[in-house]
Amino acid sequence: MTQKILVLPGDGIGPEIVTEAAKVLDCLRQEHGLDVTLEYGLLGGCAVDELGAPYPEATRHQARAADAILLGAVGGPQWEKLDRPLRPERGLLAIRADLELFANLRPALLYPQLAAASALKPEIVAGLDLLIVRELNGGIYFGEPRGIRVLENGEREGFNTMVYRESEIERIVRVAFEAARKRHRKLCSVDKANVLEVSELWREVIGRVAKDFPDVALSHMYVDNAAMQLVRAPKQFDVIVTSNLFGDILSDCAAMLTGSIGMLPSASLDRHGKGMYEPIHGSAPDIAGKGMANPLATILSVAMLLRYSLNQPQLAGRVEEAVGRVLDQGLRTLDIMASGMTPVGTQAMGDAVVAALME
Ligand code: IPM
Ligand code: MG
Repeated sequence: MTQKILVLPGDGIGPEIVTEAAKVLDCLRQEHGLDVTLEYGLLGGCAVDELGAPYPEATRHQARAADAILLGAVGGPQWEKLDRPLRPERGLLAIRADLELFANLRPALLYPQLAAASALKPEIVAGLDLLIVRELNGGIYFGEPRGIRVLENGEREGFNTMVYRESEIERIVRVAFEAARKRHRKLCSVDKANVLEVSELWREVIGRVAKDFPDVALSHMYVDNAAMQLVRAPKQFDVIVTSNLFGDILSDCAAMLTGSIGMLPSASLDRHGKGMYEPIHGSAPDIAGKGMANPLATILSVAMLLRYSLNQPQLAGRVEEAVGRVLDQGLRTLDIMASGMTPVGTQAMGDAVVAALME
């Protein structure tokens, strides 16, 4: 049966990088028998401009009907001054919540060809392959109450709430244990249990769930230490599971270990494996429209989409191999370039991946 992929290019560099990822899907369709149709929709600032909301009804219908979603990036300075509910990021949070995409998988894999692009010494990052499992539907991102209020003395106070129910903790840590089982069977739960009650409960629940996964070695780490360990000795980690905010921060940190945030894909899954796939970088308004952006994170997001939502592990592997091959050929966009190299543009990089796929 033909499966439906909803493509949401978004803002900034989103449309450019998604164009290259769509070329990859087209190639798989034409050359490798992938049975999908692509439909396009609006999310983020472009949706505000055209339809008056960052996650409009029309997109919501499309998203619910799709088998998988491919997203570029959302946001940009022209929308920063809008009322909070109209900001592009709210659209992203709304689609994550609406589709209950609670499990965010963010692999950080260092391609050996890019060891020199990492800010860390090659011996610290060589062979790096870790997975951050970030809770994506709860925690302080969604907790109520939230807002900015005026106190009696006229001073304003901003507040948010970090809150997790046992059931929310349980479902994300189970995803992480399962993922660890398919990897090196090591799971590190990151929290702030020395200060936060919500983390105390998190630890208790994961301890309970761990009994169902005796074959996975569970450890705990405070988030401040985890940030330090990620730059000190990142290869100690296999799978990390953590809350929404901590995962947001640690995944950017992990991304930088691999040389460029322009290389890392992500998957946000619901409990049936339906998912939205996006690069973990943002919309990079400073380079938007210049044809300089690295499309590889989006192309690697296509690989995750094939693996997790379309059950096409072989095609996913082919895409990943094709990316490896273009790196072997020495092709580099600006963000992953070593000194003395000449960068290629977004389109040339996408074309090279397609060519490698046809080999
Ligand atoms: C991410 C992004 C988003 C987040 C922003 C754009 C709302 O930083 O996906 O990591 O904080 O979740
Ligand atoms: Mg982030």
